[in-house]
Formats: sequence, structure tokens, C-alpha cells
Amino acid sequence: MSHVLEVQSVSKRFGGLEALHDVSLWADGEILGLIGPNGAGKTTLFNVVSGFLEPTSGQVRFRERAIQDKPAHEVVAMGIARTFQIVKPFAELTVLDNVLSGHGMPRYPSPRAFRERVHTPDNEAVARRILERTGLTRWADTPAGSLPIGLQRRLEIARALATEPDLLLLDEPAAGLTRQEADALADLIRELHAEGISLIVIEHNMHFAMNLCQRIAVLAQGEVIAEGEPAEVQNNEAVINAYLGKQGTNEVVTMGPGS
Ligand SMILES: Nc1ncnc2c1ncn2[C@@H]1O[C@H](COP(=O)(O)OP(=O)(O)OP(=O)(O)O)[C@@H](O)[C@H]1O
Ligand SMILES: [Mg+2]
Repeated sequence: MSHVLEVQSVSKRFGGLEALHDVSLWADGEILGLIGPNGAGKTTLFNVVSGFLEPTSGQVRFRERAIQDKPAHEVVAMGIARTFQIVKPFAELTVLDNVLSGHGMPRYPSPRAFRERVHTPDNEAVARRILERTGLTRWADTPAGSLPIGLQRRLEIARALATEPDLLLLDEPAAGLTRQEADALADLIRELHAEGISLIVIEHNMHFAMNLCQRIAVLAQGEVIAEGEPAEVQNNEAVINAYLGKQGTNEVVTMGPGS
């Protein structure tokens, strides 16, 4: 049986730096956590899977089709959506229009095309349902740029949902959130999963990842160093060493609850 997503021996070089080295990873209908120290290659892996970067070598297969040489808008059309570590809303557009811009248009349309082809009653109904699901209805008419970071992170997810994905890649969705906001976000992610969306979630906070994810893969210095159930991964010696900086990274991340 093949998996929904299969990353096969993917390497990615930036000049002299190998950001990903022979990475193999699979994902099915689950919430997969992707963790690892700063600079481990997590975002680069998302960039490769979502078509923002071509790998130097290796294959990415989505539902048995090779996608590693497809551009981002084709990957989106096939059913993979992603959010960004640094939120990028259209700051001057309202929250509703930001979600609409993710629906039915592969690229940011001209203002006229936006009014005539995107802003239809049917599309607006879809966008409003997504605002409901993501808890953003109250802010539908607010310019996105004036939202606090917690809501901007929700809006990132709402925009990704507007493309109707089967696989959703979330790049540090809880970064900058309070504990309460992070808990609410975890609930939203669980709901999306219950609705049938597969998710891969990059997370720095071990506690958040351990509670949310059914399986966790750990990247360090461009390589997968561990993969398995949260409890297994948490006690894995290579993982503990990577997080304590023994593999040459300087990052120290606490692994206890509440970190
Ligand atoms: N476009 C690029 N050009 C050159 N180097 C890059 C590029 N993107 C990433 N890198 C480098 O590749 C390595 C992996 O970066 P990446 O952003 O994937 O790490 P990360 O695991 O997401 O880290 P963080 O936890 O800090 O977000 C880093 O050394 C980074 O500087
Ligand atoms: Mg990153």
C-alpha cells in the first residue's frame, strides 16, 4: 500500500549548503509532527513538497503521482496547501477577501478579475463557511493587517483551506501564540483532521507537538534522525542530543511541559 505522501531520498542544496540530505518520509491520514532545531531543514522540506522549490535529487509522490517538478499552483490544485512561518496576508484586504483570494484563483488576481470572477455569491458563501470553521467570522470585514498575530495565523489556515486541500502543511502555526491561543489552535487542527484532512505540522514546542500529533518525525541538520510515536521520539537519544546541541547546532530547546 502506498501512502498519501511519499518523500523519497530528497536532497536539497543551496550552493555549498545541503539543507536536506537523503530525506525519506511518508504521511497518511494523520496529524504528523515535524520537529527539529533551527536550521534543520523543516521549512525547506515544506517548500519542496509544496512546489516552491525543486529538490536537487529525489522524488516527492502525492497519491502515487510524482510532483517534485510541478510548480506551486499545480501542487495546490492537486490538493496540497501550506501556510507560512512568516504570515503573509494581503494586509489591506479584509479577512473575507483574503480567504476569497485563496478560492478559485491560483495567483493573486487583478482587482477587476477579483470583483468579477472571485467575488461571486457562491464563492463568498464558501469563504464565509471557512471563516466559521476557523473562528474568524467576527473579523470578516477587518483589514487583515490589523489583526493580532494569533488571528493572522488562523487566517493563514483559512486561506489554505480555501484551496480545498486533502493535505495541509502548517509551518509553526503556534509560534507567537499564548498558551490559550495555542490550545484553541490545537482543537481547530484536530477538527480539520476529523473532517478528513491529513496534516503535517512543523512545531518547535515539543509539548504542543507531543499532545497534538499521532506520529512525529525529527529532522536535524537536514536528515531524519528519528520517526515514530510521540513517547518513543521523546525518549530517543539522538533526538535529545540534537535538541541539546550535541550535533553541532547551538539551539537549546527545553522539552518539558509548558516549554
Ligand atoms: N532559499 C535559501 N537559500 C539558501 N539557503 C537557504 C534557503 N532556504 C533555507 N536555507 C538554509 O537551509 C537551512 C535549513 O533552513 P530551513 O529554513 O529549512 O530550516 P528550519 O528547520 O525551517 O529552521 P527554523 O526552525 O529556524 O524555521 C538553513 O541553514 C538555511 O539558512
Ligand atoms: Mg522553518
